[in-house]
Amino acid sequence: MLNTPVKFILNGEKTEYTGNPSHRLLDVLRSDYSLTGAKCGCKEGECGACSVLIDGKLINSCLVSMGSLSGSSVVTIEGYSKTARFDTLEKAYASVSAVQCGFCIPGMILASECLLSNNPNPTEYEIREGISGNLCRCTGYNAIVKAIGIAADTKNTAPACDCKHNHEAERTPLLSLQEALELRKTTNLIPYAGGTDLMVSESSLEKKFLYIGNIPELKQITEDEKHIRFGAACTFTQVINNKLSPEILKEACRGIAAPAIRNAGTIGGNIANGSAKADSALIFMVTDSKLLIKSADSERIIPIRDFYLGDKKLNINPNELIVEILMPKHGLDNYYYKKVGARNALSIARTSFAGILDIQDGIIKNCAVAFGAVIDTIIRFDHIDKKLIGKNTDEAKALKAEYFAMYDEAVVPRRGRVSVQYRKNVCMNLLKDFLEVNGI
Ligand SMILES: Cc1cc2nc3c(=O)[nH]c(=O)nc-3n(C[C@H](O)[C@H](O)[C@H](O)COP(=O)(O)OP(=O)(O)OC[C@H]3O[C@@H](n4cnc5c(N)ncnc54)[C@H](O)[C@@H]3O)c2cc1C
Ligand code: FES
Ligand code: FES
Repeated sequence: MLNTPVKFILNGEKTEYTGNPSHRLLDVLRSDYSLTGAKCGCKEGECGACSVLIDGKLINSCLVSMGSLSGSSVVTIEGYSKTARFDTLEKAYASVSAVQCGFCIPGMILASECLLSNNPNPTEYEIREGISGNLCRCTGYNAIVKAIGIAADTKNTAPACDCKHNHEAERTPLLSLQEALELRKTTNLIPYAGGTDLMVSESSLEKKFLYIGNIPELKQITEDEKHIRFGAACTFTQVINNKLSPEILKEACRGIAAPAIRNAGTIGGNIANGSAKADSALIFMVTDSKLLIKSADSERIIPIRDFYLGDKKLNINPNELIVEILMPKHGLDNYYYKKVGARNALSIARTSFAGILDIQDGIIKNCAVAFGAVIDTIIRFDHIDKKLIGKNTDEAKALKAEYFAMYDEAVVPRRGRVSVQYRKNVCMNLLKDFLEVNGI
C-alpha cells in the first residue's frame, strides 16, 4: 500500500518487507518468512485458522494487506510459543486432550490469549464467545473451552509479548488526513481501513490501496454539544469499549461476527461498503446520524440517509473520504434492536431491525425505525414514523393500525437467501414487538 519497504516488528524482531504491499499477511508469513503456524482455512475471515496478534489484538492474517502493517507488531504462534502464558495454555490444552488434528490449535491458542488478557476470569459463555471466530473441524470445542477455563484458573498474568512495549503508542501514522485527501485527489488508490470487506476478494491482491486505518483524525471518538463524533476508521471493538458510545450502537457492534473481525472492521468501512446488511450503519440510520465527508479542498455534512442512493450507489466522490459520523447525543436510551442471522460468528443479517422511541412527559418526542437486509439499502421511512411523534401513548395506540398498514405497504422485501414472505413476516413482527414493549 503506498510504498515499500514496510517496516514492522515480527515476533519481536525488526523486519522490512519489500514485496507487494497488497499481498496478504497470511501468504507472506508462510512463504516469505517460513512461519507456517498460521494456517490457511478459508481466506475469508471465517475460520480463524490464520489468527495472529497485531498490536496485541487478535486478527485474521488472511484479511491483512502487508502495506497496512507499517510500524506495527505482529506476533505469530511461533513467537507466542516462547512466552510463559503459552506454557500455561499448552499444559491446560494437553491436560484435557483438547488437540485432535491440531489444524485449528494455533488460532485457538492465540484467541485464548486475547480472551484471557482482556478477561482473566471468563464465564463459559464468554469463553465460547472469545473463540467464536475459530472453527475446529474435529469439533473439539468442549475440551478447548475446558482447557481455557483451566488456564484462567492458574491466574497467570505474564504478558503475551516478551518485549513489553506499548505497541499501540509506537505505531506512528503513515499519513495525515490532508495528505490522504491529496492522494485521493491525484491518484485512484482505494481507501483501505480494516480490509475485512476488501481483502475477502482475491482480486484485491492486484489493487492499489490507500491505508487510512491509522490516521489520527479518523481514529478518535469525541463529543460536541449535540453529537458524539465517531472517526470513520474506529473499529467495532473501539466503539464497544468507548464510554461515549450509546448502548444501541454498542449492542449492534457486539453482534458483529467474532473478535478478530470486530478488532479490524471499521464503522466507516461498514457505511462505505454500501451494504443493506451493515449492522452499525443500521444504527447510524435509525439515529438520523450525519456524515462529515471531506476532499482536499472542501467538506460537507450530509444526513446518512442521503449517502445511500440505491444498490451500492453512494453519495461520495472519488476524491473524498468519510471522516466522521455525527450521532445525536440525546434521546437514544429507549431502543429496540434485533438481528436475525444464521450463525452467531458469521451473522450477516438476514433481517435486522432498530427502533427508537423517546417519550418525555408522556409525549412521543421521537419515533424512528430502520430495517436492514430487506432491500438494496437500509430502509428508513421517517414520514411514517412522524405519525406517532407528538402523540401520547393512548393516541399512538389509536393510530397503531394505520401506522402498521403504512409500513405493510411500504416494506417490499427482495428475495435473497430467504423468501420474500419470510423477510416481510420478520419485519412486521419486529415492528409489532417494538411497539408492544413500549405499551403501544
Ligand atoms: C467473516 C466476516 C464476518 C462479517 N460479519 C459482519 C457482520 O456481522 N455485520 C456487518 O455489518 N459486517 C460484517 N462483515 C463485513 C465487514 O467486516 C464490515 O462491513 C466492516 O465494517 C468493513 O470495514 P473495514 O474497515 O474492514 O472496510 P474495508 O474493507 O477497509 O473497506 C470497505 C469499503 O469501504 C471503503 N472505505 C472504508 N473506509 C472509508 C472511508 N473512511 N471513506 C470512504 N470509503 C471508505 C473502502 O474503499 C471499501 O470500498 C463481516 C466480514 C467478514 C469477513
Ligand atoms: S484463513 Fe480462515 S479466517 Fe483466515
Ligand atoms: S483439532 Fe482438528 S480442527 Fe481443531
